[in-house]
Amino acid sequence: MKIIGVLTSGGDSPGMNACVRGVVRTALAGNILTIGIKRGYTGLIAGDTQLMTSRSVGGIARWGGTILQTARCPEFKTPEGLRKALETIRDLAIDALVVIGGDGSLHGALALHQAGIPVVGVPASIDNDICYTDMSIGVDTAMNTILEAIDKIKDTASSHQRAFLIEVMGRRSGYLATTTGIAGGAELIISPENPMEVKDILAEMAHAHERGKPHFIIMIAEGTKPNAQELVNALCSSGHPGFEARLTVLGHVQRGGSPSAADRILASRLGDAAVRSLIAGESGKMVGIMNGKTVSTSLEEVLKMDRPVDPDLISLADTIAL
Ligand code: ADP
Ligand code: F6P
Repeated sequence: MKIIGVLTSGGDSPGMNACVRGVVRTALAGNILTIGIKRGYTGLIAGDTQLMTSRSVGGIARWGGTILQTARCPEFKTPEGLRKALETIRDLAIDALVVIGGDGSLHGALALHQAGIPVVGVPASIDNDICYTDMSIGVDTAMNTILEAIDKIKDTASSHQRAFLIEVMGRRSGYLATTTGIAGGAELIISPENPMEVKDILAEMAHAHERGKPHFIIMIAEGTKPNAQELVNALCSSGHPGFEARLTVLGHVQRGGSPSAADRILASRLGDAAVRSLIAGESGKMVGIMNGKTVSTSLEEVLKMDRPVDPDLISLADTIAL
């Protein structure tokens, strides 16, 4: 193997750069060149690439976002898009690919593997909705960003005796809402795995008020039904038992920022592991870390699994919210 291609795809996540650095430097250690593909599958289709060197990835581990940029690329899902991508791989004499991204990007990696390209995926998405890795790249940083926001909102919530719904990302997963709700001391956590009816939320609010709580923080995952806006409307029109309600949607601040130490280490390990896996002749795999050990699992297996939030975490959140 002489040339590896690397791309970042889907939603950016903090740590993608550290992963690219890991890929480039582990490849160089094995006398393999790395071509960086710009804007995920969009750049693969367009042939938009740059040669990566040890210096070109110097100092990037501390940066959020991705120096390769990223994109969502509907064209890649079409037979014509895939054909163009395969053409680029052939024209540039790329022997194997590392795909860094979330669930959708890993589906794309599987499509390339099935078309005969040696490919290994690396899980990078703040959603933590991918199985066969304890954490995806970016989750730890996103949790810390959310936690900082909760702490700040709590100041206002306590000063005004208010209820705050804080909507966090996660697509269909309640992982971020649940973990940050536990860490940030939320009174309620609502998610696709733990939905709640308005009447039950109102009862919880009234009960918290009776117990002398100065505020009522509700973490809500974006994929929940009814959604955060519908819930806050319902709370407001109910006369707010005890606490006046407000909604804060954290949005894309959750995806940005300098990666945490944990994310930089995870990303470096997974970038390294992806290249080692390709050198060992593997393809169609995703590398992850489970119980402290690097593991490599077939993409097919990874992508057929759902990853709902651990019910123990949901019950812990309930117990400690008293
Ligand atoms: P993420 O990787 O963060 O989950 P997306 O779901 O948007 O983000 O996926 C990123 C890109 O991966 C898509 O824009 C598309 O190019 C590619 N992709 C997603 N799903 C598939 C699929 N089923 N087959 C092939 N490519 C896919
Ligand atoms: O998958 C990461 C994520 O941030 C999800 O949590 C969210 O639903 C989605 O991407 C937002 O995507 P976009 O940045 O395209 O609006």
